[in-house]
Amino acid sequence: MPPAAMTERPTSLTGIKPTNEPHLGNYLGAIRPALGLSATYDTFYFIADYHALTMVRDREAMRKSVYDVAATWLACGLDPSATTFFRQSDVPEVFELAWVLSCMVATGQLERGHSYKDALAKGEAPNAGIFNYPVLMAADIVLYDTNVVPVGKDQKQHLELTRDMATRFNHLFGAGEELLVVPEPLIGEAQLVPGLDGHKMSKSRGNGIVLFWPQKKLRKTIMKIVTGSEPLEAPKEPAGTLFELTRLLTPHVADEMAERLRAGGYGWGHAKQDFFEALDAELAPMRERYEALRADEPALDAMLAEGAERARVRARQTMTRVRHAIGMR
Ligand code: TRP
Repeated sequence: MPPAAMTERPTSLTGIKPTNEPHLGNYLGAIRPALGLSATYDTFYFIADYHALTMVRDREAMRKSVYDVAATWLACGLDPSATTFFRQSDVPEVFELAWVLSCMVATGQLERGHSYKDALAKGEAPNAGIFNYPVLMAADIVLYDTNVVPVGKDQKQHLELTRDMATRFNHLFGAGEELLVVPEPLIGEAQLVPGLDGHKMSKSRGNGIVLFWPQKKLRKTIMKIVTGSEPLEAPKEPAGTLFELTRLLTPHVADEMAERLRAGGYGWGHAKQDFFEALDAELAPMRERYEALRADEPALDAMLAEGAERARVRARQTMTRVRHAIGMR
């Protein structure tokens, strides 16, 4: 069977590494743009739990974060009947393809991998999973005849390696035919979302605002954002972390906030309260869905299992093609 027919919509695929509670930066930078693609593409979203195993060393943390991620994406609007949503670990064919692809890449290329090099530079002793990470990621992508992969800039190198492996395979075993689809990266506009300390919001900096924190915690956190200390009456420049977050997350209140800040008589405390109210109004319905979804793990399991079944249909077709091409039955 050839790669997924050209007459179908092109396939877009995203892998989500379940290592943290999704924060507002993930929402703006990854979740919302990825969900927007399902209007144009046949979308595959999966939870990259085996990739997380390079870091996560705790069974309970692994279990929990897979459900956190699944419930988050569903609460944000992922429609499991319109997209194929599954756990990486439910499609074992990915390891078969990972082996094949690992034979298509030089160790020197993997040695130049950013994450592996960073780990070495930090004096860590990276495990072989970190070394081989790009190979499993390539298999994730190629297994489903993926045409485009929406990724951040940090993943560009992984996409280049994926393209190399697929191209090499086609060259060696496809006799000029595109047996494996060579994917294109879809690099998102780098939307830099500042965290509580003004630096890029990231789990490792501990400066994140978790998307579905309870309302009270969300409010408390916003109130702690560091702002200017001008007196209430003073006119203020609409800039800094709080204003930037308002502009990115609740643009409909940003213009009015800017005007009030410039006019004076409106303090940063007022601005925080206004931002909190606008953000909470946006998040509350999603948070409610999240809590309901998160409270029913068996329902999430069932949904992911159904997605995996659909994913495996395509995975098996690819593997049949690959095994045949390399001379295996
Ligand atoms: N490496 C990606 C990240 O850290 C996660 C990932 C794994 C992925 N497999 C993928 C992303 C396949 C896109 C396609 O965010």
